[in-house]
Amino acid sequence: MLPSQRSLFTLPDDLHYLNCAYMSPIARSVEEAGIEGIRRKRNPALVTPSDFFEDGEAVRGEFAALVGIADPRRVALVPSVSYGIAAAARNLEVPPGSRIVLLHEQFPSNVYTWHRLAGERRAELVTVRPPAGTGRGEGWNRAVLEAIDSRTAIVALPHVHWADGTVFDLAAVAARTRDVGAALIVDGTQSVGAFPFPMDEIRPDALVCAGYKWLMGPYSTGVAFYGERFDHGVPLEENWIARLGSERFAGLVDYQSEYAPGATRYDVGERSNFILMPMLLAALRLVRSWGVDEIQATVRHLSAPVVERARELGYGVEEATRRAGHLFGIRTPKGIDLDRLRTVLEKRRISVSVRGDAIRVAPHVYNGADDVDALIRALEDVVRGNT
Ligand SMILES: Cc1ncc(COP(=O)(O)O)c(C=O)c1O
Repeated sequence: MLPSQRSLFTLPDDLHYLNCAYMSPIARSVEEAGIEGIRRKRNPALVTPSDFFEDGEAVRGEFAALVGIADPRRVALVPSVSYGIAAAARNLEVPPGSRIVLLHEQFPSNVYTWHRLAGERRAELVTVRPPAGTGRGEGWNRAVLEAIDSRTAIVALPHVHWADGTVFDLAAVAARTRDVGAALIVDGTQSVGAFPFPMDEIRPDALVCAGYKWLMGPYSTGVAFYGERFDHGVPLEENWIARLGSERFAGLVDYQSEYAPGATRYDVGERSNFILMPMLLAALRLVRSWGVDEIQATVRHLSAPVVERARELGYGVEEATRRAGHLFGIRTPKGIDLDRLRTVLEKRRISVSVRGDAIRVAPHVYNGADDVDALIRALEDVVRGNT
């Protein structure tokens, strides 16, 4: 387990920030990388042709190492999850009458593209709901597997549900998906960086992650792994740098019909963002220096007393086997108004999110026992009417 990393950040002293699933704070090192990037353009003569490539390549390498991707060229630099998902959707076969399987209340950037695709190809969307009552996570996982059959063309889902932290057994989903020949597209935004992703077992066709949450980077950055299914695909745009030999600036108008190797064809235009790319690189290095297993063990340990006390007080929290340590929902007991809880948390400077009928708690390694205690006291006081 990791000791508190709070000194690496500049969070206000009076704030209990338990909301990394909303947006991570940036660490000092990430902030400095961004400032350095801004300063660099004071004198553009200092920006060399190799600068257009180096940080991006290093980001691919860091992300590949973080997740266990053997070839960093399978990593594309994307500005958002919707962009990475759209590139995947553009290159998947979806025959009329086939099915696209999604989860109930999945994040919209991994939904709208599939709505459009299903409409265009006359395919059917199947949205898998959780069962009511106890065993919700187990039942939901079972329902996902049951929804995948020979009619399924695509399964597009997260590893950890963004609203309540339900964990999906992606190895089992992947095995089922492979059995029926469907493509598996994973949105790793709310898991990768804080929750282990067993790449060797899952082997998804694509894994898309926004950079500004558990990868600890700036907004408008992201990374996407694309497997062999996408090797000969068509990107969303035709940027000069994604073509073979683009590092020879003098030869850029010797127009090139080939793309650069691997998934780099799916990079966003102007991917060499001289401010954001160094920030994302510094962030990934920081996450790797902590280690994903250590991050998850640390936050699971931190959140354990909250879960225990919340349950004793009558709040609803998912079973441990289907709940992530870094992101989990707390549902209020009968008779306790969610808005009341929200107001108390706000007043006490405890930052969490309200998603659906639950508050979403998302700790990271900058949190400590004081943050957890503040949350427990608030949960207790709301139940006792002691606010
Ligand atoms: C699961 C998930 N995916 C994606 C995103 C962000 O999507 P985009 O990068 O398209 O804005 C979020 C933001 O909350 C999210 O929770």
